[in-house]
This record gives sequence, C-alpha cells and structure tokens, in this order.
Amino acid sequence: MKHLIDPMDLSVAEVDQLLELADDIMLNREKYQEVCKHKKLATLFFEPSTRTRLSFEAAMLELGGSILGFSSADSSSASKGESVSDTVTVVSGYADIIAMRHPKEGAPYAASLHVNCPVINAGDGGHNHPTQTLTDLLTIHQEKGRLDNLTIGLCGDLKFGRTVHSLIKAMARYENIHFVMISPEELRLPDYIIKDVLEKKKIPYKEVHTIEEVIADLDILYMTRVQRERFFNEADYIRLKDTFILDEKKLADAREDLCIMHPLPRVNEISKKVDEDPRACYFKQALYGKYIRMALIMTLLGVSVDEH
Ligand code: CP
Repeated sequence: MKHLIDPMDLSVAEVDQLLELADDIMLNREKYQEVCKHKKLATLFFEPSTRTRLSFEAAMLELGGSILGFSSADSSSASKGESVSDTVTVVSGYADIIAMRHPKEGAPYAASLHVNCPVINAGDGGHNHPTQTLTDLLTIHQEKGRLDNLTIGLCGDLKFGRTVHSLIKAMARYENIHFVMISPEELRLPDYIIKDVLEKKKIPYKEVHTIEEVIADLDILYMTRVQRERFFNEADYIRLKDTFILDEKKLADAREDLCIMHPLPRVNEISKKVDEDPRACYFKQALYGKYIRMALIMTLLGVSVDEH
C-alpha cells in the first residue's frame, strides 16, 4: 500500500505509467466505468477547493465507485477540536482511499501514519500539491508532446504557491529543463527550493521581474494567483496582488506554440480576453486533472481493467 504525499513519492517510471493510464482512460472511458465498483473515496477537505475536490469525486464516480466526505473544517468535528489523526483513523474504517487537503503543512503525512488505506495529499498549506503536479505533467505531455527540452516560465506568487514548488521538483527530473522565475522580490521562490532542487541538480534558472523581458523564450508560461490566505498582512496582499496581469499585449512576442497554464482559481492575473487565445490551456488543464486522478485512484487501489 502506498500513499501520495510529496510529488517525489513517485518515480519517473511511475509517473510515466500514470500518464499512460490517464491517456488510455481519456481515449476509452467506457472501459473504466466499473473498475472501482464497491470502492469508496473519502474527500476530507479542511480548506476550500473547487477543482481538486470535485475532480477527485468525479474521478471516483466515473470509475464506478462511491464518495463521502466533507468540504470544510467547519462542517466536520475538527470544529469541535478533533485531531487529524482521530478523524482519519475513523474515516479509514468507512473508505478505501482518502484524499485530504489541510492548511497545515505535513498534515496529510501525519494522517498517513494512522491509517490502513492510501492517503493522497490534496494540498497542504504552502507546501505541496502532488495531484496538481500530476495534472500539470499530463497537461504538458498532452499539449507539448514531451516533458523534456522545455523552457518554463513561472509567474506570480512563487513564495506561497505550493503548485509551483511541486512542479519544479517534478520537472527537475527531466532532461534539458530551464526555469524562468517571474515574481516581485517579496514573492520570490523560497531559498530552500533554489538550493535543494535547482542548485543541487544544476538546473539552469533565472529570476526576472517582468513577463515581457522573457516571454519570447518560453515554451510554457505557468501563471499563479497571489495567495491571499497565506499573507499575514492584508496591506501587503493588496499592494502585490495585481503585479502581473497577463493580457494580449504581453503575449505580443510569445511563441505560437506557447502553452499558457494556471492551476486556477484565477483572480485577476489573466485577462478574460486571453481565454479566447488558442494558447490558453488552463481550462483544459482542469479537465486533465480529473483523468490523472482516475489513473491515480486506480493505481493506489491496485485495480485494473483486466480484473473486470
Ligand atoms: N488548483 C486547485 O487546487 O484548485 P482548487 O483550490 O479549486 O482545488
């Protein structure tokens, strides 16, 4: 039995297998519609979510399984002071697999120590979001046809953006990847990611303050929202929130095959006009999220079409 807590819990070969399975699911959806019959997924969301929770639930339903869970700490007994370990110990008696989001970094890992079923980290504080990373890898693979030889621009809140931290770790394992970090000084990538991932693996990167100075070099532009919920001071959030707004003007020098991604939710950082641009991939990205989660649920539960 295996959990998914950190994107590095999966080897490159295991990621390849998940991408292959997601690809087959997208092409042959009927084949998979009963593979998780009689299996239950619990979604324990102590923090708000639209895509992650609903795509997990849609994924399990499309596999023929059932779902249970809660969508906020307030609607669970966490509001009465129950610990995460007690909650998951109880829920593991009701479900075969658990997807959990929590504002505290490390909470899904702590949960995984107390249960006898797979636990999936669906986002823990500003730390990791491994299933968003799998979603991003599937999107890049589908849209660019490769996971190597890419120049990836990461733009916005690189300090608190857990999707960016996880994506850097995952992409650093492929050949000839260049990163361009586009952020204000206050929201630059944490030093531990620079030292432990980029410098340790000798991955080329540069840090800049505007989109325009690098847009022509990019294969992928990964936009992110400024994470209001992680700021200590509202005034700082207000000052920084609109630092980057991607519009058609800023895309003037971009490549025709640029892939514009965003984990969503979007606030202001991509103009609505950009949605009509064929290079905008972020809504497709959210859909890919359902298929990769179907592949992940099947893999962690150890089910396959051959058994049905
Ligand atoms: N991308 C993402 O995690 O979206 P939600 O917060 O809506 O789940």
